[in-house]
Amino acid sequence: MTQLQRVKISALGTYVPPRLLTNADLEKMVDTNNEWIMSRVGIRERHLVDKGVATSDLATEAAKRALAERGIPASDLDAIIVATVTPDMLFPATACLVQHKLGAEKVWGFDLSAGCSQFVYALQVGAQFVQTGAHKKVMVIGADVMSSIIDYTDRATCVIFGDGAGAVILEASDEATGTSSGGALGLIDFLHEVDGSGGVSLYMPGGGSLNPPSHETVDKKMHYVHQDGAAVFKFAVRKMAEVCDEILKRNGLSGSDIDLFIPHQANLRIINATADRLKMRPESIVINIDRYGNTTGATIPLAMETARQEGKLKKGSLVLLAAVGAGFTVGATLLRWAY
Ligand code: UT7
Repeated sequence: MTQLQRVKISALGTYVPPRLLTNADLEKMVDTNNEWIMSRVGIRERHLVDKGVATSDLATEAAKRALAERGIPASDLDAIIVATVTPDMLFPATACLVQHKLGAEKVWGFDLSAGCSQFVYALQVGAQFVQTGAHKKVMVIGADVMSSIIDYTDRATCVIFGDGAGAVILEASDEATGTSSGGALGLIDFLHEVDGSGGVSLYMPGGGSLNPPSHETVDKKMHYVHQDGAAVFKFAVRKMAEVCDEILKRNGLSGSDIDLFIPHQANLRIINATADRLKMRPESIVINIDRYGNTTGATIPLAMETARQEGKLKKGSLVLLAAVGAGFTVGATLLRWAY
């Protein structure tokens, strides 16, 4: 029997569009203020695309940077998975558009939609192809143009979200999965959950098969994000801590063993509550929500990049990724950074 391969992240690339939307800008657009946004959410500014720039553009740029870091052409890739809730169009899949823009000749690919947990979900889906030996190199991209589905007259949502993309390449690590998780590099464990009863708390009601676009759906603003912030907040604070605790425990670890906690960046208060509950070391917590806001599929790779720029992400670092999002979806991944 062929032994399963241990899977590692071998490259990382990120991209955010240059245009900034600051809290001062938002103060001129809706009834909000810098003090409320900083203290309730923790965001100072976000990056937004210009008209005509779509998710596939951000995803392609991030993918190019990951390929350049790895020093391989796009034709070396076997598959592309794009994690997004803001595809360029309902179809074709954004992965097809990225394939074409990259000139990645021999790949296949598809999109994966799982709200703010979609990057960790896509990471594990991509990892299965490498683990079984079916593929050698899989590109996983989290990318969203949240500004395309936000109502910039709704202060409850427009201050929160931003646009961005992050890409990683997955490859087999030299070590087989049979080796003990102790020092082995690469992905170690994951824990995913879905609770569809929370679907009503964060959703975009219009534009799909239930409410196809019409004058009425537009008049009723059904093509925008609708969120019951307090309900999502309560679920996220509880679930982030629960899944992190469970994945750590079943690997014989505690919060203080983690070198880097890289959480989905939805609200600074959710991140800090989780880190407190798990007794993580303050220096292990990666935060960049102040600069990017909530970029949905891109938050975790963007935070990996922040950790790297801060000199914290090193070969052998024990890393915990965690996210909660629309669905509800919940996901956590434990890994040792491999390069
Ligand atoms: O990533 C996907 C998952 N999403 C999340 O994890 C988001 C989770 N939820 C949250 O992060 C928070 O619930 C929000 C940041 C969305 C809202 O914070 P909150 O502390 O839960 O505020 P709230 O919705 O309970 O509103 C408190 C007050 C309200 O005023 P009253 O009724 O107390 O007078 C709101 O109208 O804050 C008001 N408010 C604002 N005030 C100034 C809401 N948005 C704003 C705003 N500026 N932008």
